[in-house]
Amino acid sequence: MNVCTTITQFRSALKQLQQEKIQHSGAAEATVGFVPTMGYLHAGHGSLLARARRECEIVVLSIFVNPLQFAVGEDLTIYPRDEQRDLAVAAEYGVDLVFMPTVAEMYPAGATSLTTVHVTQVTEKLCGASRPGHFAGVATVVSKLFHIVQPDKAYFGLKDAQQVAVIEQMVGDLNFPVQIVACPTVREADGLALSSRNVYLSAEERAAAPVIARTLAEVDDWLEDTSLTFADLQDRLEAAIHAQPLATVDYIECLQYPSFADLPQDLSCAEWLAQSGRRVLIAAAVKFGKTRLIDNRLLGGGHRV
Ligand code: PAJ
Repeated sequence: MNVCTTITQFRSALKQLQQEKIQHSGAAEATVGFVPTMGYLHAGHGSLLARARRECEIVVLSIFVNPLQFAVGEDLTIYPRDEQRDLAVAAEYGVDLVFMPTVAEMYPAGATSLTTVHVTQVTEKLCGASRPGHFAGVATVVSKLFHIVQPDKAYFGLKDAQQVAVIEQMVGDLNFPVQIVACPTVREADGLALSSRNVYLSAEERAAAPVIARTLAEVDDWLEDTSLTFADLQDRLEAAIHAQPLATVDYIECLQYPSFADLPQDLSCAEWLAQSGRRVLIAAAVKFGKTRLIDNRLLGGGHRV
């Protein structure tokens, strides 16, 4: 496994690896699978790496805590990091190349960029509303990484479903020659979605946090009642999370996916899902102490995530 910290180094290492693979296999090309991360790797990241390993000849991992996607007062300075452990995990998953740039390498003018990428509409609700500037930071860094790595396929987790929608919109609108592969959320045994931020939780908060996943899972039972409207669903979701005293709701919302359009509040959820054939995203951002966790469920269109 080769670890590169500069763009020049990375580009030449990737080119060399591609030539080696082509010579070795005799194939016309060696496909590149890319998994962008902010490090502190867990089994959620691992699931993306494993899928990339199965589907591509070359697997590239990037580790970069992107200052552009953190607002002032968010957890940029304390974001968990462990480069040595991350490299050991990457090697276990059979990663070929790791791109681990410094902030100065990615943003030579400091943690800022005069050219940024802004995706509209799909960034207006949920995390886009509660974290202004966040998705412009994500879209900008992912564009840069796509230009640096030039992957055939890029792997993203549906744990961040809005991020997937933003990247898919950007890739379509700007004609990036990359296929976006959306992968299911990996969870702890008690349902809590894996996240690098889970390490911030105190023992008490950790015990309370699975309320989000439990509530999202209960939706299946609630939908058995065909008279349940989207307004009723919203009320039940809010009541279930509010019942946990350590939880402070940032948002819990049901929207169409991936358009993020509103849903007809007075219609039956089950009937609307069956008749429209469209998907519904139930997304939650909940704070436990200072730690903000997100999770979601996709319903309809054959999805159960
Ligand atoms: P990060 O939070 O490190 O996540 C990297 C990738 O891992 C994302 O695609 C995310 O959705 C996925 N992921 C995280 N937890 C997961 C889980 N429990 N199950 C499945 N996949 C999971 O997302 C980012 O970094 C950044 O915004 C980034 C795209 C790298 C841009 O800076």
